[in-house]
Amino acid sequence: MLKGKDILSTYQFNMQELDLILNTAAYFERKVKNSEKIDNCEGMVFASLFFEPSTRTRLSFETAMNRVGAKLISMAGSESSSAAKGETLEDTIKTVDGYVDAIVMRHPMIGSAQIAADIANHPVINGGDGAGQHPTQALLDIYTICKEKGDIGGHTVTFLGDLKFGRTVHSLGYFMQMYGNKMIFCSPNALKMPEKITNDLRARGADIIETDDAAWALAQSDIVYVTRVQRERFADPAEYEKCKGVYIVNKELIAKAKQDITVLHPLPRVDEIATDIDDYEGSAYFRQAHNGLYVRMALLALVTGRV
Ligand code: NCD
Repeated sequence: MLKGKDILSTYQFNMQELDLILNTAAYFERKVKNSEKIDNCEGMVFASLFFEPSTRTRLSFETAMNRVGAKLISMAGSESSSAAKGETLEDTIKTVDGYVDAIVMRHPMIGSAQIAADIANHPVINGGDGAGQHPTQALLDIYTICKEKGDIGGHTVTFLGDLKFGRTVHSLGYFMQMYGNKMIFCSPNALKMPEKITNDLRARGADIIETDDAAWALAQSDIVYVTRVQRERFADPAEYEKCKGVYIVNKELIAKAKQDITVLHPLPRVDEIATDIDDYEGSAYFRQAHNGLYVRMALLALVTGRV
C-alpha cells in the first residue's frame, strides 16, 4: 500500500494506511524486544540528510535503518556538504538519489520535502520541512497515544505553546481530527495556530477551542501536547524574548489538571516542562521519543516494499 510512496505530510494518509503503519510498528517493536533477527531491508542503502539540527529524528531514523538491516549514508549539518559551497537542494537530491534506495531529509524551508520528492525516483521521507510538516513525528505521537491511552480517539487534547511555528502540531492536528478528538489550542496570541490550519480542520468537522488559559485547558484535557517556543523561526529576537517561558508545565499545574492527564512533548524541551514532573506517571515524553524507533523502522520497510 505504501511501497514507493513519499511520506511528506500527515494530510496524505487514509485510515487504512495508518492502521498498516501502526501495526507494522508494533510488529517491529515486538521483534526488537524479543531480540529477533530483522533483515527486511538487507542489501539496501538509505540516506539520512539533515540540513537542520536534530537529535531524536536523525538518531532514531539512523538506528531504524540499522535495525531493519540496511546500510546508511549520513549528512548532519549542511556545513559538511556541498550545500556550504552553494549547491542547490535539487542538485544534492539528484545526486544522492542515484546512490540510495530511500532518502530521509530535514530542511529549514517549508515545501523542501516536496521539492526533493519531485526530483528523486526513490521514496523521500520528510523529517521536518521548516515550520511546515513533520509527519513521522505525528505518526509516533499517535502510536504513543494508542499505547498510553488504549485508543487514539475520543480524547480532549490540548496543544500548548508555539502553535504558529511548531511543525509537529501542524501535522498532528489532522490526525487528531481524523480520529475524532476534541482539540484545545492554547497559546499566546502571537503564537496562535495558523488560521489556514484551524479553518481547514474546522471545515473537516473538527471541534476546536482556542484559548490562552493553560490551567483551564489542562483541567478539561486527557492529553496535553506541549511544544517548545521555536526560537530559530523568529525573524525578530525581541519577539522571541516576549514569548519565551509563557507556559511552564510543572507539578503545580498538573495538580490542577484533569486526573490521569498524559503529557506529551516532541522534545527537545527548553523550560516548558519542569523536570519536577518527569516522575509523574502520565509524563510520556521519553517513552514517546523511544517509540519513534519502531514507527520509523515501519516506515522504511513499508516505503521500500520490504514488509
Ligand atoms: C521537533 C522538531 O524538530 O520539529 N523535534 C523533534 O523532531 N522531535 C520539535 C522541536 O524542535 O521543538
